[in-house]
Amino acid sequence: RRRDLVNVRGVPMICAFAQNLEEITEHFQAKDDDIVIATYPKSGTTWMSEIVDLILNDGDVEKSRRGAIFQKVPMLEFRVPGEVPPGSEILESVPSPRVIKTHLPVPLFPKSLWDKNVKIIYVARNPKDVAVSFYHFDMMNQLHPDPGTWEEYIEKFIEGNVGFGSWGAHVRDWWNLRQQKNILYIFYEDMLEDPIREIRKVAKFLGKDFSEEVVNRIGQQTSFKAMKENPLTNYTALSSTIMDQSISPFMRKGICGDWRNHFTVAQSERFDEYYQRETAGTDLTFHF
Ligand code: A3P
Repeated sequence: RRRDLVNVRGVPMICAFAQNLEEITEHFQAKDDDIVIATYPKSGTTWMSEIVDLILNDGDVEKSRRGAIFQKVPMLEFRVPGEVPPGSEILESVPSPRVIKTHLPVPLFPKSLWDKNVKIIYVARNPKDVAVSFYHFDMMNQLHPDPGTWEEYIEKFIEGNVGFGSWGAHVRDWWNLRQQKNILYIFYEDMLEDPIREIRKVAKFLGKDFSEEVVNRIGQQTSFKAMKENPLTNYTALSSTIMDQSISPFMRKGICGDWRNHFTVAQSERFDEYYQRETAGTDLTFHF
C-alpha cells in the first residue's frame, strides 16, 4: 500500500483519497437535500457528524445507534480497496437526507454540490492543535504518510505538504465563500466552550427547533467522554490495519491548547508567524 502523498490539481493528497478524486469532483451527483460536513482534517469532523446525525434523528439515541459513524456519515473521497466500501458508493445507497463528510478543499469540491446549493457545515480549528492532532493521527493511521519527527512535521505542515494540503488555504477559501453559499461556519473551540449553544445553531441551520431536553440529550451523547466510550463513534469498529489505536487513540484528548505540551517556544513563535501570514487580510480569528 502506498503511503506517500500524490498531487491532485496542486493539492497533496493521501493516496487512499486520491484515486478517483477528479472523477468525484467532476461527476459526483448531489441531491437537493444533501448535508455536507466539510473540514480540514482533525478539526472536529467526527464530533460534528455525530451531532448532525442526532439532530436529523430528533435526538433519538437509539436511532443513532444504527451503525458506526463512518458508515452513517461516509467520507466522500474515501477509497481503500478491500476495506470499507468507497464513500461515493455508500452514498448511492444511503437514505436521504444524506450526510456527506469531506475534507476536500474548495478547488476539489464536487461541482454538483455547488450547483444544488446544498447545506454545508464547515468546522475549523486552530492550526496549532490541528497540527498536533494530525501528527498523532499520521502516526497511527496506516494509510497516511509517516509524519517524521515533530520538528520535521511542523515544517511539512507550514509548507502545506500534508494530506489535503495547506490548512490556511482550506479555512480561508471556505470562509470567503460563506456569504455566497449555504455555509454555516463553526469553530471547534466554540463547540468546546458552549456545546449546547453550537448544537442549537446547527439545529436551526437544519430547520429544527428543539426543546431544551432534546438539545441537552444531544449534548450529553456527543460529549468527548461519551464519544470516546461509544464503539460506534470511537473508530474501534474500523480495522486496525487502517487505524492502529494502540499507537494513539482516535479520541485522543479533545481539548483546546494541547499544543502547549508539544511546541517549544521557538516552534510556537515560528508557527505564530505562519498563522499571521495565513490569516492576514481576513477577519478570521482563532482561539488557542
Ligand atoms: P485531538 O487529537 O486533539 O484529541 P476529526 O474528527 O476531524 O478527525 O477530529 C479529531 C479530533 O477531534 C481529535 O482531536 C478528537 O479527539 C476530537 N474530538 C472528537 N470527538 C470530540 C468530542 N466529542 N469533543 C471534543 N473533541 C472531540
